[in-house]
Amino acid sequence: MRPPRAAAETKAVTSPKFPLVVRTAIPADHERILELWEACGLTRPWNDPRRDLERKLAHDPELLLVGTAPDDTTTANKVVATLMAGYEGHRGWLNYLAVDPAASGRGFGRAIVTEGERRLEALGCPKINLQVRHDNMAAIGFWEALGYMVDDAVSMGRRLILDN
Ligand SMILES: CC(C)(COP(=O)(O)OP(=O)(O)OC[C@H]1O[C@@H](n2cnc3c(N)ncnc32)[C@H](O)[C@@H]1OP(=O)(O)O)[C@@H](O)C(=O)NCCC(=O)NCCS
Repeated sequence: MRPPRAAAETKAVTSPKFPLVVRTAIPADHERILELWEACGLTRPWNDPRRDLERKLAHDPELLLVGTAPDDTTTANKVVATLMAGYEGHRGWLNYLAVDPAASGRGFGRAIVTEGERRLEALGCPKINLQVRHDNMAAIGFWEALGYMVDDAVSMGRRLILDN
């Protein structure tokens, strides 16, 4: 696995009400990241989350972000947000956005996405795409609040590696 580049390690982002520190994930975060993905309902039987994490770390670990909220009394000093950003030279992608349910509605989702967008733009990425399950109305509302629009396109995929 490639270690994250030091230059991309830390970025403090202040949300309107609660400060969130967004930084590149480090190995000590990995179990908590998997816990948050599970707690936020992002895992699927056909996708082994641990293998997804390993693949990301082997590819572009500097775009796996976590947010910690030192001033949040509910979740002090814990990773409360995750975001997996990516750029393949044409479009940026955002996956595995998760905010600890105990800390939702505090601007953490917006803050970590803003930092993901900043990092993608710094790489020259002209547009971000993302996929949301069609019945995840809460997430669709969130993305719309951040200025994302439904594209006139059908999402298609084909599995190359079976995880189980
Ligand atoms: C979706 C999720 C990331 C939102 O995180 P959050 O920290 O609670 O969101 P924020 O507090 O940053 O909200 C940002 C903005 O979106 C708005 N918003 C959030 N959910 C909304 C909804 N369902 N409808 C309309 N607006 C919404 C907020 O009011 C806020 O607006 P403001 O910045 O103008 O005040 C979080 O609930 C989560 O982890 N959900 C489970 C996992 C998931 O579905 N991930 C997305 C997969 S695509």
